[in-house]
Amino acid sequence: MKGVDQEEIARRRGIYFQGFGIYGGLSGLFDFGPYGSRMKDKIVRTWKETMLSEGNIAEFDGTTITHTQVLKASGHYDRFFDFSVECKKCGTKYRADDLVEKRGVKVTLDRDWLQSKITELGIKCEKCNGDLGEVKIQKLMFQVDQEEGSEPLFLRPETAQGMFINFKEYYRFFREKLPFAIITVGRGYRNEISPRRALYRLREFNMMECESFFDPENETWVHDPEDSIAVTFLTNEGKEMKATPKDAYEKGIVKSHPMAYFMGLALRFYSAVGIDIGRIRFRQHRKEELSHYSSETWDAESLTDLGWIEITGIAHRGTFDLTNHIKASGKDLYAQRVIPRKEVIEKKKEIDYQTIKAEFPKQSSKIIAAMKDGASSLSIEGKNIDLRRFLVEKEEKVVVDRENFIPVVIEPAFGLDRIIYTILDHNLSVREDSGYVCLKIPYSISPYDAAILPLMAKDGLDVKANSIFENLLKQKFSVLYDDSGSIGKRYSRYDEVGILYCITVDYDTLKNGDVTIRHRDTRVQIRIKIDEIPDYLGRNPWNGK
Ligand code: ATP
Ligand code: GLY
Repeated sequence: MKGVDQEEIARRRGIYFQGFGIYGGLSGLFDFGPYGSRMKDKIVRTWKETMLSEGNIAEFDGTTITHTQVLKASGHYDRFFDFSVECKKCGTKYRADDLVEKRGVKVTLDRDWLQSKITELGIKCEKCNGDLGEVKIQKLMFQVDQEEGSEPLFLRPETAQGMFINFKEYYRFFREKLPFAIITVGRGYRNEISPRRALYRLREFNMMECESFFDPENETWVHDPEDSIAVTFLTNEGKEMKATPKDAYEKGIVKSHPMAYFMGLALRFYSAVGIDIGRIRFRQHRKEELSHYSSETWDAESLTDLGWIEITGIAHRGTFDLTNHIKASGKDLYAQRVIPRKEVIEKKKEIDYQTIKAEFPKQSSKIIAAMKDGASSLSIEGKNIDLRRFLVEKEEKVVVDRENFIPVVIEPAFGLDRIIYTILDHNLSVREDSGYVCLKIPYSISPYDAAILPLMAKDGLDVKANSIFENLLKQKFSVLYDDSGSIGKRYSRYDEVGILYCITVDYDTLKNGDVTIRHRDTRVQIRIKIDEIPDYLGRNPWNGK
């Protein structure tokens, strides 16, 4: 929000802050503090609840260190890079395409093209006006050091790959029926050229991804797209219109039914976590912007003090990943569909018993047993025998009623850090009368249910407040106890981190057994009895009960 320094409030109040601060900090690495961690956890829970309400979506939790073969097959090993350019004078590094795009030029992602454009447009360092050096390729994956001689490993640049390579586990889990989807929440790592601007561009970030799998002959989700929330759709041909995801699909703006469906789910999730839907739009990628695996992508973008920023990418990955993993691993990652029964000629490899017995009369049973175990070679009397030559190809007529196919994939990928940035941006506001800042987030993602505040830390008020605090903790409410500073200061402390209720214990509490509950947004105060507090807070869906 303009006029509020989100990063400053986040740091001061323990929502998020730069990592390794006591050692001077490291760019692109942020930690979440006491309030931010809880908020983040509740946002993830809201996302999972939104996705899992579908029934045919299951969870996955995979490793972040990734086998190099996976990244070779996925294309990241060869194609996941950006173009960097460095100032010769002050050393500031930039993404070359960003610098050119800022001049209003349509970018071609090619090193020589970028180099000549930078010269032609006379682009200089934005910090010191120094000359820029050579455009270079920067690989975006972090390599994990391994023993010398062994293949390097990498930190995953996206959480998606684990869900592709384990497709068959989930296919069985869903009783071999499509469509279904897999979701995962976890860290992704990218060696970004210029990580800056708080949570916007990080080197280690939090992703919430979903891979949904379809028969290409029936690319339809099980429910229809959302029809009540309308937002702006910006096509890659420059057309702009307001539509619900259902409208957008029916008018052919969004070509894929599941893609429109997931747009609706995204909107439902954004509203639940307090993002202002009036500041959300879907923008279609231009051809040259598409990732190497995508044929169509729509970004959900939010309007923040940084301008429009991408918070979710919804990509049509087609059969790209499964096809490449089948090729690279040689394993079966196919689904099957039922077809009308038909006769086909099947080629089969069979063991040629006669030749084995003729050539190796004494060792034939050993050879046959090894071949039945799947061995392709065997050492006999010191000689290595290639067993594949004992396989003969036979043709056989068989009746089939199923065929293999490679499912297509639609992937909504949510960037959690940018979602948190957006939530804070859309919900931080300055009170007109006092100038104090208030974070008006929904109760469901508020870091604590309530703060318990004795008016003074004396005269037994602190003892009473503490007993209320302990009692609420026992009932599994998430509450804070705070007796430091004036009551006004404490109210504004909790307003800034989005806690909806402050419960004040004062002298009347000792006489009447009631407390004041103050509401964050309206600042209205009501009195209720101590034993009514659990019921009052019980309306919070996240209290663990
Ligand atoms: P950008 O174009 O901004 O670099 P991207 O198109 O590379 O983003 P995706 O690869 O689609 O992003 O990643 C999915 C989501 O992950 C994005 O919508 C974004 O919210 C988030 N994300 C991607 N890169 C980063 C990053 N470096 N820091 C924080 N979040 C990120
Ligand atoms: N899995 C989507 C992305 O990282 O780009």
